Amino acid sequence: MAGAGRDRVPLIVGNWKMFKTSAEGARFISDLADQIGRLDDREVMVAPPFTGLYEAVRAAEGTSVSVAAQDVFWEWEGAYTGEVSSGMLADLGVRGSIIGHSERRSYFGETDEWVAKKVWAGLERGLLPIMCVGETEDEREAGLTEEVLARQVSAGLSSVRAADGGRLAIAYEPVWAIGTGKTATPETAGKAIAHVRREVGETLGDDIAEAVRILYGGSVGPFNIDELMAQPGIDGVLVGGASLQLGSFVRIVQFERP
Ligand code: 13P
Repeated sequence: MAGAGRDRVPLIVGNWKMFKTSAEGARFISDLADQIGRLDDREVMVAPPFTGLYEAVRAAEGTSVSVAAQDVFWEWEGAYTGEVSSGMLADLGVRGSIIGHSERRSYFGETDEWVAKKVWAGLERGLLPIMCVGETEDEREAGLTEEVLARQVSAGLSSVRAADGGRLAIAYEPVWAIGTGKTATPETAGKAIAHVRREVGETLGDDIAEAVRILYGGSVGPFNIDELMAQPGIDGVLVGGASLQLGSFVRIVQFERP
């Protein structure tokens, strides 16, 4: 595939999962913004729980940090108890949403079909969908990694028009590396990401595959960020545990490429 991908602006996303109150999140964002200052060669997002979004957006105003949600529903409004639409998120000033995280797939029964609808709904309201894909340990051991990724990518992008393909990001998060301290080696991550990019090309065309940012997630920390970001094709990271502490997240944001 053409180009080394250095035209894609690196994207660092902190997924706070079910951590931090609204006040804790706002304080964290203010401190983060103070420490990283103005950035023009990378983008930084944090994804608090729904309850923290309002204060998070206010804290992020005028800084280099923007705010994403951790999930979104595909209908605009209606009798869907407990759900939040992409229009409601956009109205708050939220800029993106994680979609199809493996924790949602495994604990809450999220399917590829739901992921596709959520990606579409996010794009329709101008949010950056960060669509998560990744194989389990059993799938990797059974040699099914490429097949699983191909299915998740092609199904998840099935409702995306090629013209909108540049406005989304994909996170490759091998399930066996999430919260385990077992990071994929940069080579393993790079190989899987190259496969994801090929599959995006098959689904939406090569131009979109070149434009889409593909992140790595799974036990990312200050100790491995530079080597991950040195890998061609890795355009950023989706960080869980290490995004909860200011010092470690600042170091991740301040990654250096050779
Ligand atoms: P950890 O960084 O804690 O492994 O979590 C990764 C993740 O699930 C980010 O979405």
